[in-house]
Amino acid sequence: MITLDINGKATRVDAAPDTPLLWVLRDTLQMTGTKYGCGMGLCGACTVHLAGEPVRSCSTPISAAVGKKIVTIEGVDHAKTAKVAKVVQDAWQKLDVVQCGYCQSGQIMSAVALLEKNRKPSDADIDAAMAGNICRCATYVRIRAAIHDAAK
Ligand code: FES
Repeated sequence: MITLDINGKATRVDAAPDTPLLWVLRDTLQMTGTKYGCGMGLCGACTVHLAGEPVRSCSTPISAAVGKKIVTIEGVDHAKTAKVAKVVQDAWQKLDVVQCGYCQSGQIMSAVALLEKNRKPSDADIDAAMAGNICRCATYVRIRAAIHDAAK
């Protein structure tokens, strides 16, 4: 048994230490807000916060998450990030960012992590922070606009 701190709750899981965090979230805990895209750390759909940093949960073994705060899309608006998460989600709705929606929880987790560190990001800052989050519908222009809107 391994105990993980997920969205502020000590959560015991029966899984091998090298099990990817994404598998535990989705398959063991049925927390399906975090998405599976590539499974290789390339698309960003599986982004969660680990100790405040955006990480790819598909390529993060649970052993690397022990003792650190894990925040998923289900908990981002209840965590320390609540204020920023609210303005980000409001901006996402206002600017109608989402098309198919599959990548968007990962996009929002990366955007929240960026704005937690940098309340006035430039276009270059946004592009650098969001570069690992791929969107097949190419909503990048609206994502960038929404992050600027949330930063106001
Ligand atoms: Fe993790 Fe693509 S599913 S980066």
